[in-house]
Amino acid sequence: MPIPVSAASAILVTGGAGFIGSNFVLEHLSDASACPVVNLDVLTYAANPANLDPLKGDARHTFVHGDILDGKLIRELLATHKPRAIVHFAAESHVDRSILGPSAFLKTNIDGTFSLLEAAREYYNGLSEDEKPHFRFLHVSTDEVYGTLKPEDPAFHEDTPFAPNSPYAASKASSDHLVRAWQHTYGLPTLITNCSNNYGPLQFPEKLIPLILHNALAGKPLPIYGDGQQVRDWLYVADHCRAIEAVLATGRIGETYNVGGSNQQTNMVVVTTLCKLLDELKPAAQSYSKQITHVTDRPGHDRRYAIDARKIEGELNWKAQESFETGLRKTVEWYLANQAWVEGVTSGAYRNWVESNYSAREVTA
Ligand code: NAD
Ligand code: DAU
Repeated sequence: MPIPVSAASAILVTGGAGFIGSNFVLEHLSDASACPVVNLDVLTYAANPANLDPLKGDARHTFVHGDILDGKLIRELLATHKPRAIVHFAAESHVDRSILGPSAFLKTNIDGTFSLLEAAREYYNGLSEDEKPHFRFLHVSTDEVYGTLKPEDPAFHEDTPFAPNSPYAASKASSDHLVRAWQHTYGLPTLITNCSNNYGPLQFPEKLIPLILHNALAGKPLPIYGDGQQVRDWLYVADHCRAIEAVLATGRIGETYNVGGSNQQTNMVVVTTLCKLLDELKPAAQSYSKQITHVTDRPGHDRRYAIDARKIEGELNWKAQESFETGLRKTVEWYLANQAWVEGVTSGAYRNWVESNYSAREVTA
């Protein structure tokens, strides 16, 4: 008997064993009245199924080990679970990896999104006229599609022209264009979020904040690319998850929502703040800041990102709840309390990545 699509139906989450995806699934299901989640993840190096351990025995969570490129599998999942929405996180997400090996980024981020859109279109067309208004396809994207800002430029707004600079950003911009086209041409009810840099629990230690914490505690150099004056607009991951829930619930079909914390910081400020927090919470013989090392810059490094979040704040009543100070402190406390998690993800493969990304970089200061 087919399961009808309704507000109580499941949502299909892709990439829900990664950093933001697993935070989203955990946050979502922490509400006892939340709808079930079917979680599709191929488990790349960036995934960690243990992130989902708190959901063991929770019948509302179904984990499926599989690839968004596998159209047959996605069609089966849609036919079986009849979800009321797809929330699409799955991606290759690290800029440095995209520079050293862009191919996987084009495959997953562009072809994978195309595969998902095609299955979603077929599924949506097969829904009854009563069911169609409940369905949404929410594509989780990034502020990097807009390129880089000069110090005096206004923050990115939803109409800022796309100007992606890295292979990662270009692949995400391509996927955003596909989602837009599937809405415009086929009437698929899509939503897009473009968010700034996330940080918080469960982030893989290849990204700046967890990498600095990991290296600091291991007594290793803290690598700052170039002069460290690049600016990012940092957002605590739980705030991003709340934004996605808000867009899913009441976002307008076909619209894009920029998400950010109005929290622009240079990389040097981020790293020195982390060192101060570690000095306080886990004092060592000398300040962790002594480990700061400037190394060769990232090729094509975007100088500044900043998000104008007035649309989501005004229309959907969303606002970041965590400040940079409180969010960063929570993050450091989480990493200190979860060293077993860090050890679990810093295996041989992680060490190979560190070797390939950092060994050829010269120490510049
Ligand atoms: P992540 O790299 O931590 O996780 C990505 C997840 O996707 C992993 O679990 C991985 O196994 C899965 N995945 C990759 N390829 C897949 C495939 N072919 N099929 C199924 N699953 C696959 O990434 P993240 O930082 O959690 O980012 C999630 C999404 O949010 C991405 O789309 C990213 O572009 C976007 N985003 C990230 C940030 C950020 O700061 N991290 C900011 C804005 C937007
Ligand atoms: O803006 C959103 C994007 O933020 C997301 O779409 C990406 O998935 C996510 O990876 C992130 O991209 P960034 O390149 O900004 O994040 P990353 O943590 O890699 O780097 C943050 C800044 O720190 C950036 O200016 C590069 C710098 N950096 C990074 C690393 C890993 C260093 O100086 N040293 C490092 O070792």
